[in-house]
Amino acid sequence: MNHKTTEYQAFSSQIISWYRSNPRELPWRGVSDPYKIWLSEIILQQTRVAQGLPYYYAFSETYPSVKDLALAPESEVLRLWQGLGYYSRARNLHSCAKYIWNELGGRFPDNYESLLKLKGVGSYTAAAIASFAYGEAKAVVDGNVFRVLARYFGIHMDIATGKAKKEFESLANQLIPPSNPGEFNQAMMDFGARLCVPKNPDCSNCPLQATCFAFQKGLVKELPVKINKTKVKERNLHYYVIQCGQDYVWNKRKSGDIWEGLHDFPLEEDLMKLNLPTSEEPQIFQKKYRHLLSHQKLNASFSKLDIPLEKYPELSQWCEDEGYLLVAENEIEYLAKPKLIVNFLNDQGI
Ligand code: ADE
Repeated sequence: MNHKTTEYQAFSSQIISWYRSNPRELPWRGVSDPYKIWLSEIILQQTRVAQGLPYYYAFSETYPSVKDLALAPESEVLRLWQGLGYYSRARNLHSCAKYIWNELGGRFPDNYESLLKLKGVGSYTAAAIASFAYGEAKAVVDGNVFRVLARYFGIHMDIATGKAKKEFESLANQLIPPSNPGEFNQAMMDFGARLCVPKNPDCSNCPLQATCFAFQKGLVKELPVKINKTKVKERNLHYYVIQCGQDYVWNKRKSGDIWEGLHDFPLEEDLMKLNLPTSEEPQIFQKKYRHLLSHQKLNASFSKLDIPLEKYPELSQWCEDEGYLLVAENEIEYLAKPKLIVNFLNDQGI
């Protein structure tokens, strides 16, 4: 056996034995139903385990099978997703469930290549499902895996590049033991999320310390290399909360911008283009709301406009013409809304 193979096997077996001695009770562990695994992996994309857990319980209880999810209305799925962010995940989840139910006769795709064809399933998620549900030896590669491998093997490539991704994927696929791919993937996820973390990793308790390149060379802080090129854009949103008796004017967000399909209030910039049938003065709320998305920093403020229906009976026709919704106060909780709007409503007791 060559030197490299032995080194790789030693790495994999140490990672797996660390994982066995540091178990984490998670509801999708030991599950073999690909639907449930898929659900957990979509929820955990861009989301920490602690934040994703209640959503996993809610989804797997409300929709115990792909059929249940396929037959649910989209508004209900989005409402259950509320607060998790990246709502395209929920829309893709729902459209995949419908596709699997209607086009594949309810049979979940059963290998890496066919999983990849599902909307919202990239190489990481396909590898996770294929290895956990079907024992296929495909390695998961994400930020956690980049970090562990860059440190242990001393790889200095910029992890933001496609070339690095290929390189790390190739290495991880050589490391994954064909006899135990699911456990290896789960171990890599946990090792990167719990021990070999970005800041202050727990090197003193690391079983790989003696052979870790970064630890031995004092380069733990320098690895992995990430040259950040993405610019975060700042954006100001000024909302108008328009109340008319027991009803509020809502906007259902369109495609091509953040929060597609979710509900928020009309924006000042849109209202200025329209002829809102009122001469009432708005009241400006002092509190500003900041909200960070992956590529946008939002600064939101709100004004309240009370429009007495008896004075402006044409408001409901205006809403219909302009594509806004009039929603009764006690129906608001059932709308799927971005976190920012939920925070505002909670502050206002609406
Ligand atoms: N992150 C993504 N998938 C995960 C999983 N299956 N377990 C723990 N963390 C994860």
